[in-house]
Amino acid sequence: MAEFRLPPNSRIRKGKHFGAASGSNKVRRFAVYRYDPDSGENPRVDTYEVDMHSCGPMVLDALIKIKNEIDPTLTFRRSCREGICGSCAMNIDGGNTLACTRAIEDVRGDVKIYPLPHMPVVKDLVPDLTNFYAQYASIKPWLQTRTPPPPDRERLQSKDDQELINDPAACILCACCSTSCPSYWWNSDRYLGPAALLAAYRWLVDSRDEATGERLDQLEDPFRLYRCHTIMNCTQTCPKDLNPAQAIAETKKMLAERRY
Ligand code: SF4
Ligand code: SF4
Ligand code: FES
Repeated sequence: MAEFRLPPNSRIRKGKHFGAASGSNKVRRFAVYRYDPDSGENPRVDTYEVDMHSCGPMVLDALIKIKNEIDPTLTFRRSCREGICGSCAMNIDGGNTLACTRAIEDVRGDVKIYPLPHMPVVKDLVPDLTNFYAQYASIKPWLQTRTPPPPDRERLQSKDDQELINDPAACILCACCSTSCPSYWWNSDRYLGPAALLAAYRWLVDSRDEATGERLDQLEDPFRLYRCHTIMNCTQTCPKDLNPAQAIAETKKMLAERRY
């Protein structure tokens, strides 16, 4: 019978345990993925007991406390702690989300924390987003025009036109959606993924942009766009409540309509 296992150098080994100071009556346990490629060792999961009397309410608060007070070697990204910058995206309790907006009390049992799935890991909870950003750059995420701007004012939009880009422009490029998408897991070298496709859609529906045809030409490809099979993981996981799956469906519709 075939046996399916991770390759030997990817198997997770037993990690270290950092107990809470004795006497604390409000302790939560955090199981955190650890990997340091320079060490040559396999990844491991360390567990940290954190005294919640002196910890903020969000998962990011616990990670910062662990790094500051228990284990300074723990590595993760964060910046705004407001759900704005997208840096602290990781897999918490089995779902991709932002550590700064995920409340610890909403997680039952041990809080399990892993890096975003199916990405190369730089260290611990830090994924390598090089390909993700290159794909974003490939959709040319800026206004493209041919006509000169009005001499006395900016290029204006109606309120209705502006509302079309409100949601897609709110994307913080956290990569939670793309790294939850099975199509992206298997074809991230050729499929753009929901984040880049949502960004592409943002410019397709911008009434001021004059490169719609070229943008659609770029997307009309069996892999870049059509690897989306409407599985909807992306929309379900987006911590900003955006809908990349719908944007992808609308883009396919635009391509179908221009054929007829
Ligand atoms: S809807 Fe498309 S982009 Fe979203 S998870 Fe499914 S396959 Fe991926
Ligand atoms: S669509 Fe949502 S999940 Fe995807 S990158 Fe943007 S904010 Fe993150
Ligand atoms: S730290 Fe910026 S989104 Fe979490």
